[in-house]
Amino acid sequence: MKENFSGKKIYIAPIAGVTDYSFRRILKEFGPHLMFTEMVSSNAVTQANKKTCDIMLKLHDIDGVQIFGKDIDIMLKTAKYVESLGVKHIDVNMGCPMPKITKNGYGAALLSDPEHAKKLMYTLKENLKEETNLSLKIRIGYGGNRNPIFFAKLAEELKLSHITIHGRTREQMYTGFADWTVIRDMKEAVSIPVIGNGDIFTAQDAIDKITLSGVDGVMLARGIFGNPWLIGQIRDAFEGREVREISQGDRVDLALKHINYLKEDREDREFCYEIRKHLCWYIKGMKHASRIKDEINKTDNYDRLYEIMSTLK
Ligand SMILES: Cc1cc2nc3c(=O)[nH]c(=O)nc-3n(C[C@H](O)[C@H](O)[C@H](O)COP(=O)(O)O)c2cc1C
Repeated sequence: MKENFSGKKIYIAPIAGVTDYSFRRILKEFGPHLMFTEMVSSNAVTQANKKTCDIMLKLHDIDGVQIFGKDIDIMLKTAKYVESLGVKHIDVNMGCPMPKITKNGYGAALLSDPEHAKKLMYTLKENLKEETNLSLKIRIGYGGNRNPIFFAKLAEELKLSHITIHGRTREQMYTGFADWTVIRDMKEAVSIPVIGNGDIFTAQDAIDKITLSGVDGVMLARGIFGNPWLIGQIRDAFEGREVREISQGDRVDLALKHINYLKEDREDREFCYEIRKHLCWYIKGMKHASRIKDEINKTDNYDRLYEIMSTLK
């Protein structure tokens, strides 16, 4: 049977250190259905940490906010605060594998305590406004705990707006491949929308993975690093249009726009620190990329960075 791609969603993943306000401003221009902020610490929000509140919670209209933490009261206060900002989508992180997160029981560690996770999600659902879309993002397992179907069923029971599954275990971190057969099993187990995540780098990857799993949409993460065009290419593939190649000129133009967006948003030092990785991603595969990369990483002012990129046109 031929898979029908109409109505399939394209979501942008929460990516700490990457999907900040300026990059989401770029991404938004490519028309994803929904984008998530970098994961936001519930402790930082409840302690009114200025950076978290002013920078991480500066939002576009199609942004959802992802929160992480464990304490149920603190997570609820955070979700309510986020809701009070007018945010329509709130996602709970149960996938972050980093030791500094999991050692406190946050992120993917919640997969190893399903009863606590259940209480947390019930409390959020029961206390947020009915019109707020609550969702959950998980991995396929943590240590010996490998029960993604439990979490899919929980999401269904609570009528969450969707559940996203990244098809790797916590132990895999970002190595190996995402297992889309587990994603398929989850999709078959529940009736709420299931969003698949892991290893989508081309439009064909999205088509193949949806065909295999039947998911309702895909969430893009590393595939959009230096390549927001992936969003439009996937949409073209869904709609049966030819996928357009991207030229070096396109890449340079977008990099320059990104430089200017970020400059509007950050102090000088932070600007240089944050933009460098994006510029290195934009130039990947270009002639002399490694020499230019070295120069980018040594440069600490806007004018010079702008000049380096402009000369690549
Ligand atoms: C640098 C980096 C930061 C990430 N930050 C988050 C995060 O804040 N919240 C989250 O749920 N997942 C986070 N992830 C995981 C991604 O959202 C995604 O699940 C994962 O990268 C798999 O998708 P991919 O194979 O398309 O990259 C992060 C991944 C990377 C590489």
